[in-house]
Amino acid sequence: MNRTRRLRKSEGIRRLVRENQLTVDDLIYPLFIEEGENIEKDIVSMPGIKRFSLDRLSSELDEVVSLNIPAVLLFGIPSSKDGEGSETWNDQGILQRTIRFVKKHYPNLYVITDVCFCEYTDHGHCGVMHNNDVDNDATLVNIAKQVISHAKAGADMVAPSGMMDGAIQAMREALDATGFYDLPIMGYSVKYASAFYGPFREAADSTPSFGDRKTYQMDPANRDEAFREAAFDDQEGADILMVKPALSYLDVVRDLKNTYDRPIACYNVSGEYAMIKAAAAKGWIDGERVMMESLLSMKRAGADIIITYFAKEVARILSNK
Ligand code: PBG
Repeated sequence: MNRTRRLRKSEGIRRLVRENQLTVDDLIYPLFIEEGENIEKDIVSMPGIKRFSLDRLSSELDEVVSLNIPAVLLFGIPSSKDGEGSETWNDQGILQRTIRFVKKHYPNLYVITDVCFCEYTDHGHCGVMHNNDVDNDATLVNIAKQVISHAKAGADMVAPSGMMDGAIQAMREALDATGFYDLPIMGYSVKYASAFYGPFREAADSTPSFGDRKTYQMDPANRDEAFREAAFDDQEGADILMVKPALSYLDVVRDLKNTYDRPIACYNVSGEYAMIKAAAAKGWIDGERVMMESLLSMKRAGADIIITYFAKEVARILSNK
């Protein structure tokens, strides 16, 4: 008889035949930095996650480094917003100052920046508005300005999250023309118009003041289109392809893993984090085990890199700290 249970008999054999492993090397930890002073504000819908002002960020960074997490993904929350999000390319802006601070005091921590406008525009959309919609090509001009500003401040990698067509190409050309040909780009290649971003919008103060993001982010019903999106980012030269959200889109993670020979990342987004935290707080699930199982499922689906608010907790468990 075929007996698959033979290889499940004890932890020893289960360890030997285990196919996937979650390690601290897979993790990117997102950070929200708000312009101002003395800010350390809990994000209610994301227990354990806070917004920091730059002067309060050190203890958080100390912890990230001591847990051996390789990378952070920075989101800036400016004190003033306008129609274009012009603070995104201010060399003295909150994100630029944060990049310089982190690279100066934590030179080995890998700094990735989110390249978008929604936290910086007064209307909360991811670019310049025209006729009640985001103007793709006008936004590309500003993306180029933003990305050069991040590069000059010392970012190690840039990650455009706005789902504008041609963003990777516009960024690559801008970076190459200014001498930053070595700076990699992680594309938010397949990003769905998802309700799972709810808590993030509280965290980053980026809820659209009208409408939604369905004219630029993808329809959750679509899988073939994900190949098209990823193909364009691949051709335009994205160094890493990302799928977002993660849990409800693991089929797409696997599709990309099977199709492209580039590293695949997934973004375990705010709503996925909030659901586990909320159910665990109620005592309805074992939060730690559900966390580890869901992150492992992302590895099994083919993710090489996971962006997650759980990064510190996972790192602590993996290192027994
Ligand atoms: C901004 C951006 C969003 C997220 C990352 N970058 C929100 C959005 O597109 O509305 C979501 C992250 C999360 O939910 O954890 N463009």
